[in-house]
Amino acid sequence: MSHLRIRDVTEADLPAALAIRRRSFGPLGTGGQAWWDGLAKEVLPDRMLAVVDEADTMLATGRALPFEQAWGGRHLRMGGVAGVYAEPSARGQGVASLLMRGLITRMVELGDVVSCLFPTAPELYRGVGFEVGGVQPRYSYAAHDVRAVRSRSGGLRPRPARPGDAELVHSLLRDHHARHALSGPMLPTVDTCRDYLEDEEQISYVLDAAGGPRGFVSYSLADEVLTVEEIVGESPEATAALWAVVGSGSSAAPTVRGHLDPRDPGRLLLGNVPELDVREHVWMLRVLDLRGAMAARGFSPHVTASAEVVVEDPEVPANSGTWTISVDAGSGRADRVGEPDGTGRAGASPAAYDSDHEPTRLGARGLAGLWCGWSVSRLRLAGLVSGGRPETDRALDAMFAGKPYLTEYF
Ligand SMILES: CC(C)(COP(=O)(O)OP(=O)(O)OC[C@H]1O[C@@H](n2cnc3c(N)ncnc32)[C@H](O)[C@@H]1OP(=O)(O)O)[C@@H](O)C(=O)NCCC(=O)NCCS
Repeated sequence: MSHLRIRDVTEADLPAALAIRRRSFGPLGTGGQAWWDGLAKEVLPDRMLAVVDEADTMLATGRALPFEQAWGGRHLRMGGVAGVYAEPSARGQGVASLLMRGLITRMVELGDVVSCLFPTAPELYRGVGFEVGGVQPRYSYAAHDVRAVRSRSGGLRPRPARPGDAELVHSLLRDHHARHALSGPMLPTVDTCRDYLEDEEQISYVLDAAGGPRGFVSYSLADEVLTVEEIVGESPEATAALWAVVGSGSSAAPTVRGHLDPRDPGRLLLGNVPELDVREHVWMLRVLDLRGAMAARGFSPHVTASAEVVVEDPEVPANSGTWTISVDAGSGRADRVGEPDGTGRAGASPAAYDSDHEPTRLGARGLAGLWCGWSVSRLRLAGLVSGGRPETDRALDAMFAGKPYLTEYF
């Protein structure tokens, strides 16, 4: 392993990266080359890394896409790890793990505070501090039930969206995340919204009449299925009107499908229960910068709590140490115990210890689980938290309570 090194992927390396991809996932398929070319523009020069041997032959590659993700209604910089693959003849000796360590270090350097990914090999990512954040579920409804909500639309009629609506769509999504203090969903850039609205495969409508509620829906139609990608309404009538425009396709497409928040209000609006055809994509998360992530995340303004924890994070030494994690007036902090701006005490304080003097200890995986709303007692059962006291567990649970979801696949 000592002969291996990590370096940035350049334009000249892309054919070698694509060759490993083909050996990992097969040919690119229709439209794949255009996707690949576009992707390279998004990640070069500093968000795509490779592991190379002494002859500079590429053995593995992966990228960390620059995304924004809502946590408690505020938007955090999230590195979306994707396209991790190793040359088959080089597998089984830690090459992908080495690559992941390089990507984590790079994301920290670039200022990403959390990272997410959709794993095919979870143990690979657990080994470098990622843990399961949640699942991306898929619900199906009978299209005629969706059409029926038109009676609750208050006569609102969405109009077809145009590329010029990109700013509106972006602001609707951003406001929606903030208003409902959502955790998990990604916020596309205005340019991404524009690309989406220019995509002829997507069918998009907006509501923006002066003085009326705003809203947006985007869906696609293929194989007699209407698939909702995004739906945001600012009132019950707007929400119903947007669902109804999708359901209006019921004569040609009997099924409406959505990869939506399991708590999307549509579930309360539609007459029938969804058919839960279980297609769940597990997603994993890692906290890259504990202090930065705590400061950026939104928390309930009604929670005032603090807890001391000892974090052990070999991949990100800056996360390691004894911290006071606290929430007050809707904002969070992580203060290193013993630092001048912290509590001023050296090492773990007595409050971090139970009667047997064992502090609440967690590694990067435990921290990831906590961040995503797993209760501490359950993390404890999975061996991801040790020590501490019941009061500390409750304080941490109160701070991070939530049901994060991720609907965007990358
Ligand atoms: C998954 C992949 C990247 C692993 O590469 P690698 O260099 O062999 O990985 P490492 O040697 O660092 O493996 C670290 C750990 O990951 C897990 N892992 C690796 N390959 C795995 C596989 N095929 N299935 C399940 N777990 C796997 C193991 O826990 C492994 O630890 P172990 O060797 O002690 O059992 C490689 O097999 C590959 O390119 N596969 C095809 C593409 C792919 O699935 N990419 C992942 C996309 S999310």
